[in-house]
Amino acid sequence: MIILDGKKVSLKILEEVKEKVAQIDRKPHLAVILVGNNPASKIYVNNKKKAAEAVGIKTTIIEFEEKISELELINKIEELNVDNNITGILVQLPLPQHINSKNIAAHINPKKDVDGFSPENVGRLAIGLEPYFYPATPQGVLMLLDEYGIELESANAVVIGRSNIVGKPMTQMLLKRNATVTSCHSFTKNLDRIIKTADVVISAVGKKIVRCKMGNKNSVIVDVGIYKDSNGQLTGDVDFDYVSDSVGFISPVPGGVGPMTIASLMYNASKIYC
Ligand code: GUN
Repeated sequence: MIILDGKKVSLKILEEVKEKVAQIDRKPHLAVILVGNNPASKIYVNNKKKAAEAVGIKTTIIEFEEKISELELINKIEELNVDNNITGILVQLPLPQHINSKNIAAHINPKKDVDGFSPENVGRLAIGLEPYFYPATPQGVLMLLDEYGIELESANAVVIGRSNIVGKPMTQMLLKRNATVTSCHSFTKNLDRIIKTADVVISAVGKKIVRCKMGNKNSVIVDVGIYKDSNGQLTGDVDFDYVSDSVGFISPVPGGVGPMTIASLMYNASKIYC
């Protein structure tokens, strides 16, 4: 069994991004919008800022109070869309209940949409037109699998979770790589039976949902879930201790997909379209 070492691979990607940024005259500048006081969001935004600055990407964090209206937020985005100093825009999720995050994503210039959540980038991925940006987490998962030479063409891939941030784009991106993809979610029956048929399992649920031995000992498990268990320990979707002796490759939590997501976002933020 081989550990998919996201920490190690992420450092390599960050180094490549840093070299690329050093070589270009116009430096990327990422605007990060943070609404409200969600402690986890504050930590994520600070981590993104630190990672960006370490690779030479300038960041501006724009903070708003929880009570900002959807229209005010849209006005700020419209301003950033046409600001020639800003090359990337990221709105940290989740947003407060009174703001429709899908509507917000629809106002971000697709050429600055480093998260790849705008309808144009989502639609481009869906119809096979190259998006300007792929969502960071699924892109990071593919970067990790590619680094270990894991073949996706014709592989039976099982994606658990159907969120707009991970599950759905992951499914689309695996289809683009010619995998045979099964999309599973909370209504899926006989999940263990499906998992056992997989060559590659990617789980992005936020619950301990992958708890069976795999049917194929060369199979690959990527654990995108990350949350605190009842003891306050960071954990993922996969029962690592029980499952790991039945697989060929497995990503740990922490140190798997988490650092890859940041590196993948930095890869996106280093691209300048306008
Ligand atoms: N919150 C959780 N994941 C993400 C992400 O990928 N992008 C943004 N903007 N917010 C998030």
